[in-house]
Amino acid sequence: MATILLLTAIFVVAAAYIFHEIVVKGKSCTSKVQLHGKTLIVTGSNTGIGKTTAIDLAKRGARVILACRSKQRGEAALEDIKKVTGSNQVVFMQLNLGSLASIRSFVEAFLKSEPRLDILINNAGIYMQGQTDDGLGMMFGVNHIGHFLLTNLLLERLKECGPSRIINVSSVAHHFGKIDFDCLNTTKSLGQGTTFMEVLQVYSNSKLCNVLFTHELAKRLQGTNVTCYSLHPGAINSELARNTSSFAQWFLLPVTTFFFKNTIQGSQTSLHCALQEGIEHLSGRYFSNCTVKEVSDKAKDDATAKKLWELSERLCGLV
Ligand SMILES: NC(=O)c1ccc[n+]([C@@H]2O[C@H](COP(=O)([O-])OP(=O)(O)OC[C@H]3O[C@@H](n4cnc5c(N)ncnc54)[C@H](OP(=O)(O)O)[C@@H]3O)[C@@H](O)[C@H]2O)c1
Ligand SMILES: *[C@@H]1O[C@H](CO)[C@@H](O)[C@H](O)[C@H]1NC(C)=O
Ligand SMILES: *[C@@H]1O[C@H](CO)[C@@H](O)[C@H](O)[C@H]1NC(C)=O
Ligand SMILES: *[C@@H]1O[C@H](CO)[C@@H](O)[C@H](O)[C@H]1NC(C)=O
Ligand SMILES: *[C@@H]1O[C@H](CO)[C@@H](O)[C@H](O)[C@H]1NC(C)=O
Ligand SMILES: *[C@@H]1O[C@H](CO)[C@@H](O)[C@H](O)[C@H]1NC(C)=O
Repeated sequence: MATILLLTAIFVVAAAYIFHEIVVKGKSCTSKVQLHGKTLIVTGSNTGIGKTTAIDLAKRGARVILACRSKQRGEAALEDIKKVTGSNQVVFMQLNLGSLASIRSFVEAFLKSEPRLDILINNAGIYMQGQTDDGLGMMFGVNHIGHFLLTNLLLERLKECGPSRIINVSSVAHHFGKIDFDCLNTTKSLGQGTTFMEVLQVYSNSKLCNVLFTHELAKRLQGTNVTCYSLHPGAINSELARNTSSFAQWFLLPVTTFFFKNTIQGSQTSLHCALQEGIEHLSGRYFSNCTVKEVSDKAKDDATAKKLWELSERLCGLV
C-alpha cells in the first residue's frame, strides 16, 4: 500500500515537472547582449518578475535603477540583487506610481543624478481596489496614469540616448478590457464594486490602456530612435494576488503551483522586448511568449488611443 502511494506520488510530481517544462515554461530570451555603460529603470522591481528582470539585466553589466514604492522592500531587494549578481551598479530610488508628486520628484532626482537612460521597463502593477493619492482608481492610477506620466517625463532623455526602448508589462487580460470615457471622466475609474468579476474588469481595463498607449506612443515616436513594446508575461506565481480574498488564494494555490510560470520564466518576454536585436520594426506591437502577437481590434483603435492619451494628459496635469 505504502509503495503504491509512494509510486503514485513520484508519478504525479514527475508528470507535473514534465508538464511544466514542456507546456508552462514557454520560450526564453536568447539575446546574449551585454549592457555595460547602459542605464535601465525597472519599476516595481522589489519582487515578482520585476526583480528577476532586474537581476538578469544587472548580470549583463547594466546600471539598474530599482524604482520601488517602499524604501524598506526596495532596499532589501537591492541587497539581495547585489549579492546574487555581484554587481555594484544597482541603485534603489523611491517611486510611488500612485502619487503624481512622487513621480515628479523621482524623475527630478533621476535626471539630476544619472546622465543616461537606455531602457525603461514599466513593470509595476497592482491588482487591488482603492484610491491613489490623487483620487484616481488604484489600478487605473498605478497601472496606467502613473506610467503615462513617468514615460512622458523621461521621453526627452530616452530620445537623447537612442537607440532606446520603452517596455510596458501589460496582460492578456487586456482582451476583456473596455474603455468607457464617460465613466473615466466622471469617476476616474474609482472601481465601484468589489466582487471578483468587478475587480477583474477594472484590472483588465487598466491593462487595455497599456496596450493602447503603446500603439499611440509608437506613432508619436516615429522618426526618433526610441521604440516601444507591450507584452503579456504569462500567468506567473508572484505576489500579484496578495490582496485578493484568502479564499481565492487558497483556491488558486494548486493551480498556480502546477500551471503558472515561476518569476524567472515570467521575466523572459520583458527581457526579449528589452534586449532582442532586430525587433525595432515591431515598435508599438504586443508580445507574448517572446513572440509578437496580434491584439484585439479595440487595442489598436487609433481614435480611442488618441482620446485616451489626451484624457491622460489632463488627468496628470501635463496640459
Ligand atoms: N502575475 C501574473 O500572472 C501576471 C499576468 C499578466 C501581467 N502581469 C503584470 O506583470 C507585472 C508585474 O507583476 P508581478 O506578477 O511581478 O506582481 P508582484 O509580484 O505583485 O509585483 C508587482 C510590483 O509592482 C509594485 N507596485 C505596486 N504598486 C506600486 C506603486 N504604486 N508604485 C510603485 N510600485 C508599485 C509592487 O511593489 P510592492 O511590493 O511595494 O507592492 C511590486 O514590486 C504587473 O504589471 C502585472 O500586471 C502579471
Ligand atoms: C511558446 O513558444 C514555443 C516555441 O514557439 C512553443 O513550443 C510553446 O508551446 C509556446 N508556449 C506557450 C505557453 O505558448
Ligand atoms: C506604457 O503604458 C503607459 C500607461 O498605459 C503609457 O502611458 C505609456 O505610453 C506606455 N508605454 C509604452 C512603451 O507602451
Ligand atoms: C471629459 O470632460 C472634459 C471636461 O469636463 C471634456 O472637455 C471632455 O471632452 C470629456 N472627455 C471625454 C472623452 O468625454
Ligand atoms: C538615430 O541613430 C542613428 C544611428 O546612431 C543616427 O545616425 C541618427 O541621427 C539618429 N536619429 C535621431 C533622430 O536621433
Ligand atoms: C495587501 O497584502 C499585503 C501582503 O499580504 C499586506 O501587507 C497589505 O496590508 C495588504 N493591503 C491591503 C490594503 O489590504
